[in-house]
Amino acid sequence: MLTFPDGFLWGAATAAHQIEGNNVNSNWWVHENEPGTTIVEPSGDAADSYHRYREDIRLLADLGLNSYRFSIEWSRIEPERGLYSRASVDHYRRMVDTCHEFGIEPIVTLMHFTVPRWFENDGFWRASDAADLFARYTELALPVVAEGVNYVCTINEPNIAAMLAGGEDASNLVAYGLPKPDLGVADALLESHRRSREVLSQVSGLKTGWTIATQAFEAADEPGSEEKKREIAYPAEDWYLENAAGDDFIGVQAYTRNIVGPEGIRPPAADVEKTLTQWEYFPPAAGIGVRAAWELSDHTPVMVTENGIATQDDSRRIDYTRGALEGLHACIEDGITLLGYQHWSALDNYEWASGFAPTFGLIGWDKQTFERTPKPSASWYGEVAKANGL
Ligand code: NOJ
Repeated sequence: MLTFPDGFLWGAATAAHQIEGNNVNSNWWVHENEPGTTIVEPSGDAADSYHRYREDIRLLADLGLNSYRFSIEWSRIEPERGLYSRASVDHYRRMVDTCHEFGIEPIVTLMHFTVPRWFENDGFWRASDAADLFARYTELALPVVAEGVNYVCTINEPNIAAMLAGGEDASNLVAYGLPKPDLGVADALLESHRRSREVLSQVSGLKTGWTIATQAFEAADEPGSEEKKREIAYPAEDWYLENAAGDDFIGVQAYTRNIVGPEGIRPPAADVEKTLTQWEYFPPAAGIGVRAAWELSDHTPVMVTENGIATQDDSRRIDYTRGALEGLHACIEDGITLLGYQHWSALDNYEWASGFAPTFGLIGWDKQTFERTPKPSASWYGEVAKANGL
């Protein structure tokens, strides 16, 4: 048996826009519904978790999990610039309380890719006051985390957000099929993260950090690959991990690896197993990401805030997760401080531009009735959590 440390946080993760439904004041809602959009379908009702969060949290507890990572939505809390929705803050406060009712440790993310539509219109992360606005939003959200919350993730995958903002130059594809990051946006996100952490430091005992998409860059066995890998990895990942030094924890989000040849990132070879997102099936990704985070952040405690697989073959989800957890256990044996593992995802959800087809969930739901059905992988994972090991 591979036993994990006492108090290890076994959970599952979600993001507001991907499960709540009708997140109409967010920039994503605008883009999903634009004529001619390349986003395959709109998020619509999603999993209606805005109304069904209680049932979702109870299900996780019933499975045997002890934590839940979810995000709160800036565009609900501040739907227009300067307009504060107390009802939305109360809603998220109730989610925190519901977690406690069921013995679940809440892990709250302040910003998971989506921003209010006004924020995007007013200049997005390129606006000179972007960090001020994010700090002010953090102030507005303080009542959600003021009591009974130990972990807050400020910004989800700033490295992917900076690539998304990098936009037009698709000739520079980096990872996940995304272009080179916009370095100005990267700086604004770091500044926003720091300002947000400052605001959050008003809550005593709160541990704060950001969550980074680690991409397991690996040089191909050809001249020039190692140089290219270093050139890509620094602005795509390493810079963000290094800047987490001194934070209370760092979130690692890992799914696959990326082989880099002298020409750049290569698509997975024809003969490797691919998941529904067309990523290589690669369970060691989590352990590799944790080791990179620990080293580059000068030994900041790590939490795996996302790891999972998009598949219709639920037995493959179990195999993948087992493989990932074995890799993480080895990290712990090597002395790395690992606080927990949040499987992505609790529920099948809206996978952004790819729509609902890539199913990452431990729990499925009926498109008409929203009725939840835990998959066998959910029960398997719940047993691991209850045994604190595998
Ligand atoms: C990273 C993102 O944080 C999440 O929103 C996304 O659904 C998963 N990875 C899978 O792509």
